[in-house]
Amino acid sequence: MSTVAVETVGLVKRVEGAVSATLVNGVDLKVTEGEFVAITGPSGSGKSSLLYLLGLLDAPTEGELIIHGQATSRLSDTQKAQLRLSTIGFVFQFHFLLPEFRAINNVMLPMRALGKLSSADMRDQGVALLKSLGLEEAINKLPNQLSGGQRQRVAIARALANDPQIIIADEPTGNLDSHATDQVFSILRDLARQHRTVIVVTHDLGLAARADRTIRIVDGRIAQSACDLTAAK
Ligand SMILES: Nc1ncnc2c1ncn2[C@@H]1O[C@H](COP(=O)(O)OP(=O)(O)O)[C@@H](O)[C@H]1O
Ligand SMILES: [Mg+2]
Repeated sequence: MSTVAVETVGLVKRVEGAVSATLVNGVDLKVTEGEFVAITGPSGSGKSSLLYLLGLLDAPTEGELIIHGQATSRLSDTQKAQLRLSTIGFVFQFHFLLPEFRAINNVMLPMRALGKLSSADMRDQGVALLKSLGLEEAINKLPNQLSGGQRQRVAIARALANDPQIIIADEPTGNLDSHATDQVFSILRDLARQHRTVIVVTHDLGLAARADRTIRIVDGRIAQSACDLTAAK
């Protein structure tokens, strides 16, 4: 039986102010454990806003986000932060590595935040992660000594630091050449094969085609999914 990893019920994100807007407009979604879901859609359609909600980086205006069966809307900020650190790895389009930190120290940051391992264990695990992503030579380098593809793989290693079950990536290959794009996508694909849940926004329809399912977002709503189309044929 497939277990639901991430579920949303009527998820809404509205911003009020000089400009009011509904960025996410009633999203109902179920992603099962080990599933690799691609999210596509026009620029400005609310994909990033949705990912921030799914990744517990932002709170919805309405609706519920359920992670591995746990409703999150009533959790305290501390509980949410803890759940995020232990369960969710987030990869951004821009790597956001700390420039003055070597790759290994960037990867150790989420481990430090979670505070479960000794420094020696953090380092060992960080090194193992970087090696598993083909980054042995990058371990002690600063971000500006790395290629774009290497930096994004370090960012993926950082997202994996606490062994999260769920990986969320917002256009992770948006700034990469085709070779690095392929590497990053293969890594994400492998993570799903290892039974992690992977949700990735991409503009690249060729990449989206390698996902188990594609969800299209238009105006903050789910427009259609590849499965629906197949079922309709
Ligand atoms: N904090 C905010 N306040 C007002 N508008 C915002 C805010 N954040 C994003 N937007 C707008 O909401 C829309 C959706 O943004 P976003 O989720 O980044 O879309 P996408 O990732 O699909 O390009 C865009 O038009 C964007 O300009
Ligand atoms: Mg975006």
